[in-house]
Amino acid sequence: MAMTIRIGIILLSFACCCHLRQFCSSYFTFSPYLKQSSEQFDSIAEFKADTELTCALRCSTKHNCDEAIFNRDSKKCSLYQKKDKGSIDSHAGKDNTRSRIVTMKKVAIPPTNKRNIDCASANDESKDNTDADKGKNKTTGTSCNEILQKNSASPTGHYHITIGNVTWKTRCKMNGIPRCGDGAWELVMRVNGSQNTFSYDSHHWTSKASYKSVDTGQEVKLPGYWLSNFTKICVTMHFPANVSRNTTSILLNHTAQSLYHALHKGVTTTWAADSSTIKTPPNIDKSCLVQGFNVIGPRSIKSRVAVASQPLDWCALRLPYFVRGVGIGGFRGYPEISCGEIIIGLSYAPIKTYPAFCRIYIQ
Ligand SMILES: *[C@@H]1O[C@H](CO)[C@@H](O)[C@H](O)[C@H]1NC(C)=O
Ligand SMILES: *[C@@H]1O[C@H](CO)[C@@H](O)[C@H](O)[C@H]1NC(C)=O
Ligand SMILES: *[C@@H]1O[C@H](CO)[C@@H](O)[C@H](O)[C@H]1NC(C)=O
Ligand SMILES: *[C@@H]1O[C@H](CO)[C@@H](O)[C@H](O)[C@H]1NC(C)=O
Ligand SMILES: *[C@@H]1O[C@H](CO)[C@@H](O)[C@H](O)[C@H]1NC(C)=O
Ligand SMILES: *[C@@H]1O[C@H](CO)[C@@H](O)[C@H](O)[C@H]1NC(C)=O
Ligand SMILES: *[C@@H]1O[C@H](CO)[C@@H](O)[C@H](O)[C@H]1NC(C)=O
Repeated sequence: MAMTIRIGIILLSFACCCHLRQFCSSYFTFSPYLKQSSEQFDSIAEFKADTELTCALRCSTKHNCDEAIFNRDSKKCSLYQKKDKGSIDSHAGKDNTRSRIVTMKKVAIPPTNKRNIDCASANDESKDNTDADKGKNKTTGTSCNEILQKNSASPTGHYHITIGNVTWKTRCKMNGIPRCGDGAWELVMRVNGSQNTFSYDSHHWTSKASYKSVDTGQEVKLPGYWLSNFTKICVTMHFPANVSRNTTSILLNHTAQSLYHALHKGVTTTWAADSSTIKTPPNIDKSCLVQGFNVIGPRSIKSRVAVASQPLDWCALRLPYFVRGVGIGGFRGYPEISCGEIIIGLSYAPIKTYPAFCRIYIQ
């Protein structure tokens, strides 16, 4: 039996600043020296390392590194990339725990449990198949759910949606969204909270015109905004790494002909939020939260899709107030944030704004 030590290395990453493509988290299997044929591997780097762990960590930070070999005597760490990803791994033969040369193989952990789903979603679009509907199994449809029904093996990626005489490319998140639930979610918009492209009064909310394309990874508004009907809407929010809140989302169970129809007249449509499904920052009075469309929150902060503190018949609203939304506006005297979170404290406490990078999905 080969000696196997697993060291989990969880790489946390955030949508805005991360370009890890190959894996979200990985571990290494360590085994005694196994002679490998040089035709199978390309050498990437060689350097001195203190321990095999240092050597493994360097491999984990390089997306093209598949294997690391550490020589305990010379302290040489060599990193390799596998040439043929499909080749069958040979296994170490006889165990030799006194071996001075350690071979470490990187193994990506597929996103099967909650922690990794969260991690994958923070990583979000970096691992997308941007041509998921190309090739033999070209799958298109009138919604992401229809595409998933046609082929249950469809991966998360970019697909063409056709409604009437309009065809466009969007992102279908096939494996569900943490806190929003299963199923295929169709991307309608991306909103960068630090920019004011999609602030409350932007013409984009009241027009039937798209803005940029899904491929850029940046802000976008797709024809699904006015063409795709839905029964649920999910706004995912990724905060920068230095903010204690990292990712969150807003889920609204609501049926509409399109997001445009739900919003364009600017009519406030809110209902009491089920506080058990909402995670809030400390001290927020969760009994007074409403959610909905064209929300007018405390201090007249308006947002297109939001959860916000509101005085209700049955609750006396207490500070601090809270607004979490996308398409924010009317917040005078403070930096524009078109998506994110705002906390309004007591008069002597500062108002805090937390811009986020947001994605609006429907299903
Ligand atoms: C959002 O906009 C800010 C300000 O323009 C920019 O610095 C940042 O990189 C953008 N974030 C993303 C994820 O594109
Ligand atoms: C196409 O779909 C079939 C059956 O679902 C699957 O076996 C095959 O691997 C797919 N091919 C590609 C290129 O995705
Ligand atoms: C698409 O159809 C709509 C109504 O069904 C029509 O108003 C529009 O002109 C058509 N667009 C094109 C490019 O044919
Ligand atoms: C939603 O849109 C799809 C695709 O256009 C259509 O087939 C379906 O009937 C619509 N559902 C409702 C309830 O309007
Ligand atoms: C996070 O970093 C940004 C830019 O570096 C800074 O403007 C902001 O104040 C920081 N936020 C917190 C809560 O530290
Ligand atoms: C996100 O924040 C929560 C609470 O602050 C924390 O428990 C969790 O570990 C964080 N997750 C990541 C991926 O940083
Ligand atoms: C939305 O509906 C589902 C069941 O259809 C329920 O489990 C979930 O709690 C609801 N979420 C909200 C925020 O109302």
